[in-house]
Amino acid sequence: MIADIDELESLLSEPTPGVIATLDRLDGDIVILGAGGKMGPTLARMAKRASELAGIRRRVIGVSRFTAAEEERKLQEHGVETIRCNLLDEQAVQRLPDAPNVVFMTGMKFGSTGQEALTWAMNAHVPSIVCKKYRRSRIVAFSTGNVYGLFPVASGGSRENDPPRPVGEYAMSCLGRERMFEHFSRVLRIPMTVIRLNYACELRYGVLVDLAQRVWRGESIDLAMGHFNIIWQGDANAMALQAFDLVASPPAIMNVTGPELLRVREVANRFGEIMSKAPTFVGHEGTTALLSNAGRTLERFGRPCIDAEQLLRWVADWIMRDGPTLNKPTHFESREGKF
Ligand SMILES: NC(=O)c1ccc[n+]([C@@H]2O[C@H](COP(=O)([O-])OP(=O)(O)OC[C@H]3O[C@@H](n4cnc5c(N)ncnc54)[C@H](OP(=O)(O)O)[C@@H]3O)[C@@H](O)[C@H]2O)c1
Repeated sequence: MIADIDELESLLSEPTPGVIATLDRLDGDIVILGAGGKMGPTLARMAKRASELAGIRRRVIGVSRFTAAEEERKLQEHGVETIRCNLLDEQAVQRLPDAPNVVFMTGMKFGSTGQEALTWAMNAHVPSIVCKKYRRSRIVAFSTGNVYGLFPVASGGSRENDPPRPVGEYAMSCLGRERMFEHFSRVLRIPMTVIRLNYACELRYGVLVDLAQRVWRGESIDLAMGHFNIIWQGDANAMALQAFDLVASPPAIMNVTGPELLRVREVANRFGEIMSKAPTFVGHEGTTALLSNAGRTLERFGRPCIDAEQLLRWVADWIMRDGPTLNKPTHFESREGKF
């Protein structure tokens, strides 16, 4: 079991042999935009650790507003340089250091309902500011599986060449983000990989945490979004860094999630077993869900180091011990795409 946040963050930033090999081959520094969020701190730390293990001297620079000042301090402690910058400020972005490698991680999801214009500015306008600044770099850009929309569960999930059918303004703006990256990749010949992720999960947030908390607190669970995929955030970080191996113009598209197609009812019952609680359910399982098929990525980079059962046990143990959480529910159950 994972004892505390230090151990958790150390595991989440542990580079795989594949990441070490990629960062050994890669030339130059890495700038990570949006480094202060849920994933950025451990991704930045992984990039630093992998570079050191490969014997490569490089700057890893985390850029964010760092509204969580604690994350900035921790990054610095681990050898990651930090710069405070609001990416909506075009002139401030122009002043950022150049680097041949950029990871783009900013986005706006929660609070998007009611702030639609800001959501579009963050998700679809910021990419154009970034592409103009980093026109000579390689870019790995995070997107989301939400761009696919709901898909029949029986199909096993959306694949990279399925046409996007986003539901709701958040998902539409994320498709806008992808299209802006694609446009600049084509026009300026920027090599890129676009990562369609759903859902990263660790012990402080994620779909498993949402479900575990409901079972533990005796709250009922809505079955309408009856299926989902997840991936241990450490594996998602690793695949994102390895995505530098795939960059292309127009952008390579890469689904990132685990191999398991999980059923809400079964996962809740499994939590119930471990926690000695009987979950209660409302609603009926839909025949469609937000699901991605990451078969192509897993063939290329291998299966995640941590599987769903392992992660589920860790989460159950953490919640039962009242471990700290981010208090950021995923709202994965939303079928209307409102966040
Ligand atoms: N986590 C998941 O399960 C998941 C699933 C699907 C897709 N994704 C995508 O993957 C990416 C990374 O995920 P995440 O969970 O780490 O996202 P996140 O928690 O939202 O982190 C992104 C960070 O970007 C920073 N940011 C926001 N606006 C900014 C601005 N104007 N200027 C500079 N920095 C700004 C914020 O940190 P500061 O407060 O420090 O500025 C924010 O915390 C996101 O694009 C997300 O859409 C994540």
